[in-house]
Amino acid sequence: MNTKEKLEKKIGELSKIGADPSGGVTRLLYSKEWIMAQNHLKGWMEDIGMVTSFDGAGNLFGTMKGSDKNPKIILTGSHIDTVTNGGNLDGQLGIIVSYLAIKELIEEYGQPKKTLELVSFAEEEGSRFPEAFWGSKNVVGIADKQKVTQTTDIDGVIFEDAMLASGFSFDSLTVKKKENVEAFIEMHIEQGSILEQEKKQLGIVQAIVGQKRFDVKIDGQANHAGTTPMSYRKDAAYAYAKIVSQAIDLAYKEGDPLVLTFGQVTLTPNTVNVVPGCAEFTMDVRHTNQEALNKFCCKLEQLIQAITKELEMHAEIELWMDEPPVQMAPKLVQTLDKLFEEKKFNYKLMHSGAGHDSQIMAQHYPTVMFFVPSIDGISHNPKEATKIEDIVVGVEAMKAILYKLAY
Ligand code: HGY
Ligand code: MN
Ligand code: MN
Repeated sequence: MNTKEKLEKKIGELSKIGADPSGGVTRLLYSKEWIMAQNHLKGWMEDIGMVTSFDGAGNLFGTMKGSDKNPKIILTGSHIDTVTNGGNLDGQLGIIVSYLAIKELIEEYGQPKKTLELVSFAEEEGSRFPEAFWGSKNVVGIADKQKVTQTTDIDGVIFEDAMLASGFSFDSLTVKKKENVEAFIEMHIEQGSILEQEKKQLGIVQAIVGQKRFDVKIDGQANHAGTTPMSYRKDAAYAYAKIVSQAIDLAYKEGDPLVLTFGQVTLTPNTVNVVPGCAEFTMDVRHTNQEALNKFCCKLEQLIQAITKELEMHAEIELWMDEPPVQMAPKLVQTLDKLFEEKKFNYKLMHSGAGHDSQIMAQHYPTVMFFVPSIDGISHNPKEATKIEDIVVGVEAMKAILYKLAY
């Protein structure tokens, strides 16, 4: 089989695990689909002679020990979890590309000098519980057990119960930094349309945006839809709608690269003939510059308080994710730049508007990422797709990088 055929086979296999009947994939942290996918990957790793292990959080590692005395680790991989009804490339493609690159390197060159290690991070998205980068934060030793233990998912399942159901527990969490990692390399789909627009096949990531995520709760007053005159209402849906409309206008005024998303909303009691008494919603705010991000978020909080005050309601705003913009390791960016030049790849240097495990890893190890294009820039959507010939180039690029760093 050639690389294209191997890719189609592996993507097809993994995409079946958590496949949604309507198309797309849902594979949330500690779900049964999640553990099935991790175990399926474990089989692949063992098939090519890797020694496999799970850490206490459910991160899966495949290790191909290097021949050097006390070999350093060249770590590569991405996350196995998805958003709800997401695409079949976000996260898992990075694992598959790194896996196939390692497989072909071992077949062609045998044992590496440095240890080659493939990681399937347990969770990156923050889609099931209000905590993102749970996998990579456990690898670098900064995961906050207290913060997550009692959080619940949309069905009210407690984090720790979900963890136990998939065979992991807080007792097994070591939360200690993985030592001896010399470099971390992640391949990921761009999830935007810059590479496609500029007709490039690869993007070397120099920096990743900072991002803040909030839960907001607006308390109004549930009331009868028929007997409550408009002027008597404390309609939480009205407050939410005003906030979204005015906040998004503020984001347009601020301009690129600031982005603001109201992705999730729950009205209570969510009933056709009841004025909503409560609106709970999320905000996701991102910018390449920390100061600009902080300033915009201050304006956002002031806007929410002003609107709810004017409507005589109450707002609670909880910041549950606050990741700084992160630079990739300049030395590794230069290494990729030189290598891609030599290989005559069609590439560009760019920043990432999406968060990635590399955002956490880069704060603790020399880290670099590169992208393959997303068709129409679509992601977090069953329509997520990348031309197979671009992914083949991605495998070639990953092979060249790992060969340079580990052989
Ligand atoms: O939301 C993100 O930026 C990433 O896909 N988790
Ligand atoms: Mn991702
Ligand atoms: Mn994602």
